[in-house]
Amino acid sequence: MTHTITLIPGDGIGPEVTRAVVKVIEATGLDVQWESYTAGAAAVAEHGTTLPTALLDSVRRTKVALKGPIGTPVGEGFTSVNVGLRKALDLFANLRPVWNLPSIKSRYEGVDLVIVRENTEDLYSGLEHVVVPGVIESLKIITSHASTRIARFAFEYARRHGRKRVTAIHKANIMKLGDGMFLDSVRAVARNYPDIECDDRIVDALCMHLVMKPEQFDVLVLPNLYGDIVSDLCAGLVGGLGVVPAANLGEGGIGVFEAVHGSAPDIAGLDVANPLALLLSGVLMLRHIDEDARADAVMHAVDAVLAEGRVRTADLGGSSTTTEFADAICAALGRA
Ligand code: NAI
Repeated sequence: MTHTITLIPGDGIGPEVTRAVVKVIEATGLDVQWESYTAGAAAVAEHGTTLPTALLDSVRRTKVALKGPIGTPVGEGFTSVNVGLRKALDLFANLRPVWNLPSIKSRYEGVDLVIVRENTEDLYSGLEHVVVPGVIESLKIITSHASTRIARFAFEYARRHGRKRVTAIHKANIMKLGDGMFLDSVRAVARNYPDIECDDRIVDALCMHLVMKPEQFDVLVLPNLYGDIVSDLCAGLVGGLGVVPAANLGEGGIGVFEAVHGSAPDIAGLDVANPLALLLSGVLMLRHIDEDARADAVMHAVDAVLAEGRVRTADLGGSSTTTEFADAICAALGRA
């Protein structure tokens, strides 16, 4: 069967890392047609917008996209294309599995947790205004609809993947209404999943427990802002932004797969970025389209190349280029 997949190379290191991942995915023998679209600053000249309608239509049609990072100007300029894409396609769940890759040195062992981040509201609603000069109001929106939907997603995920516990993360001691409703929604959903334990942590305490004993956590479900911050913290537990994948998932099986890291303008165009995080997102994508055998093959190739230790990018202590890393994975696939 031919898979049609939307490709969004992005900017900064995006085109380099997506090129590497496309090469590896094609080396698995997957029969794939890519529909490639620019987005972000580069799309403005051609389409007059950072998020072209044709791109959105493509993802709605193919239901699956591989996406490189897209930069957002800080404090001014256009709003985040990444947030815009999630909103336009109602990609309400951001899934970030975090685990120790064998051969990647980190401070911790036995980390195997999954972050389920609500993706559509909270302080990312983009509702900010000047009340009077010198006073800004940024609105944190929490709805029972979105909280219940993400909670259900987390418990369904836990059940499907043999996970034992879902922990709701909040600051309901201070934001009694907003975070209180998030917590209540998770608890209400939990009653339908007696086979899965449910508990909760206050977000600041969670951060301390994560850096002291991360192996105690299983599935974490969080509102948008805490999810964003905690997922970078968790990436740091297992080797950094270069090794953690992500998926943005919506209703009807729609999925946009991207790395947790950004467009890294400081190293863009140098062929030194680590494509591993996007490659692991590609593995999630292969599983999403029911190509588990190819996903397993890529994982074996990744483990083999990392274990051998000869080909690694600079962020993992090596000196290999992005292209050399992709070629090494393709060669390992060929040997399998
Ligand atoms: P960043 O993740 O791009 O970079 C942080 C640091 O990590 C930099 O030193 C960078 O060189 C390094 N790094 C990141 N990815 C790497 C990789 N694959 N291999 C080796 N080193 C890597 O975060 P930053 O600098 O805060 O953001 C840069 C731009 O990316 C911003 O415009 C931001 O808005 C955007 N961004 C986009 C995201 C997305 O498309 N989903 C997510 C996060 C940020």
